[in-house]
Amino acid sequence: MPTYAVDQAASQAVSGVREVLGEPLDVNVTTPPHGVDADLAVPCFPFAAKLRQKPEEIARRLADHMPPLGLLEQPRAEGGYLNFRFNRASYGKMVMEDLDRLGARFGSSEEGEGKTVVLDISSPNVARPMSVGHLRSTIIGDALHRLYAFAGYTAVGVNHYADWGTQFGTLLYGMTQWLDREAYGKAPVRELLRIYVKFDEEARADPSLRDQAREWALRLEQGDPEARRMWEEIVRHSLAEFDKIYDVLGVTFDSWRGESAYLEMSQEVIEEARRKGVAVEDQGALIVPLKDAGMETPLILRSSDGRTLYSTRDLAAAIYRIRTYRPAQLIYVVGAEQRLHFRQLFATLRKLGFTDVTYAHVDFGLITLPEGRMSTRRGRVVFLEDVLQEAISRARALVDEKNAELPEVDKEEVARLVGVGAIKYADLSQSRVKNVVFDWDRMLSLDGDSAPYLQYTYVRARGIMRKSAAPYPAGGIDRRAMETAEEWNLIKHLARFPEAVREAARTYHPHIVANYLFGLAQVFHVFYHNVPVLQAEDEHLRASRMSIVHGAAQVMQTGLGLLGIGVPERM
Ligand code: ARG
Repeated sequence: MPTYAVDQAASQAVSGVREVLGEPLDVNVTTPPHGVDADLAVPCFPFAAKLRQKPEEIARRLADHMPPLGLLEQPRAEGGYLNFRFNRASYGKMVMEDLDRLGARFGSSEEGEGKTVVLDISSPNVARPMSVGHLRSTIIGDALHRLYAFAGYTAVGVNHYADWGTQFGTLLYGMTQWLDREAYGKAPVRELLRIYVKFDEEARADPSLRDQAREWALRLEQGDPEARRMWEEIVRHSLAEFDKIYDVLGVTFDSWRGESAYLEMSQEVIEEARRKGVAVEDQGALIVPLKDAGMETPLILRSSDGRTLYSTRDLAAAIYRIRTYRPAQLIYVVGAEQRLHFRQLFATLRKLGFTDVTYAHVDFGLITLPEGRMSTRRGRVVFLEDVLQEAISRARALVDEKNAELPEVDKEEVARLVGVGAIKYADLSQSRVKNVVFDWDRMLSLDGDSAPYLQYTYVRARGIMRKSAAPYPAGGIDRRAMETAEEWNLIKHLARFPEAVREAARTYHPHIVANYLFGLAQVFHVFYHNVPVLQAEDEHLRASRMSIVHGAAQVMQTGLGLLGIGVPERM
């Protein structure tokens, strides 16, 4: 298991403290806030009661008697804290060796070895354009998928697309009335959307259309070949359109299973829930009362007209995943508006006895496009394909302006990486619970908290590397390459990458990695402007600084990669 310098330093602090105090105490190692001149700190307040001594005295005693620690300097007591600084020579050497040895694996771990997590990602609705909400789920879910895999888990990304429900009755009926074959052939989802809107208008004038729609829903449910064929075609067309978007985004799934895959299993689950006394009849419906789990509203397994629901199929899907993958965790990356649904789902699963799985609803806020809120019913939608294309063409304008010398194919590739990266980063750089407002200028700014700025940082580092093929310095990194604040801060920041990655996965917050990378870009630029690399005094110092630049480029590339963002070699 790669244990990183930052972890080893912390564990040295812990054993040092235990050795002096002579007790098996719980020792907490923290990162001091900005302004405190220390790299690690041990708060002594928690020891006071047990040792019957003031925290300040404990800190002083520790400072006076600390044994020598390899990666840390002799600590100092400050109030109730014991403050440590890294030993530059040994800590810096270890960080740089880790980076050199692990390369693209630097930051990874084996924490998840032997464990599986299943992530429900994207899961859009068939016959509807993919919404920006699904875009958020896709981007955040994909980042978590990658982060968990990097932490050694078997991470299974599942697309649970919605291909079942009464809305198909509406569509099938509408298609028999108003389908424009040619438009359907060219842009099926747009045409289906038109029909959906048309139905809504017409049915307002003539409510009997709703009976017709119900009729078609029934035909579909009963396996009528004509209804079935039309439905299958709709599903096929929709998935093909979703695929185009996933392709541009560079997102892949390990499993595609629509809701309709769980129809049969839903009946078995209903039986199981009834047998176990978890579900009860209520006015003709079958419900799971959840008052004892703190919820007023029950989960409905079967409606009074005998249909299964979204929740029934979700329950069946969860049980399927548990039985198929034996996961340690089931993670659902779905908007905050479904919070109640997931609380109900998880409580029901526990009632059914699936208690040794951790359930997580990773929710997120809304994205507002400049065009304002959308409504499918009114046909006011923004097509994601258009948003992505616009990002790419805006990025292209940037490339044309800054990199006129690049050949055409490279320009296209850079524009794609920058445009798509900008969209992803705008989403991933703030806490997912916040609402996101689309702001093209900010998103594509070359000197702000944006993907292009980070990509540009990588490009600069690579630019230096191309000019000199210095290998990792023989005999290790030069002590002189850690002397200035610019160098030392960069090395210390690089060392923290494994921690950022771990925290992001543990808390389901990819923005921790995004913010880390923004910090890396900032310390790198300070270094870049102040420390001569190619012009260093001698070969060994030059190679040492080169390896720092190399490490920064590597971590930037790995980190952006974990967010699903690619890096160009030039821009
Ligand atoms: N298709 C659903 C929607 O768009 C999201 C499904 C999320 N995943 C799940 N297993 N419920 O609202």
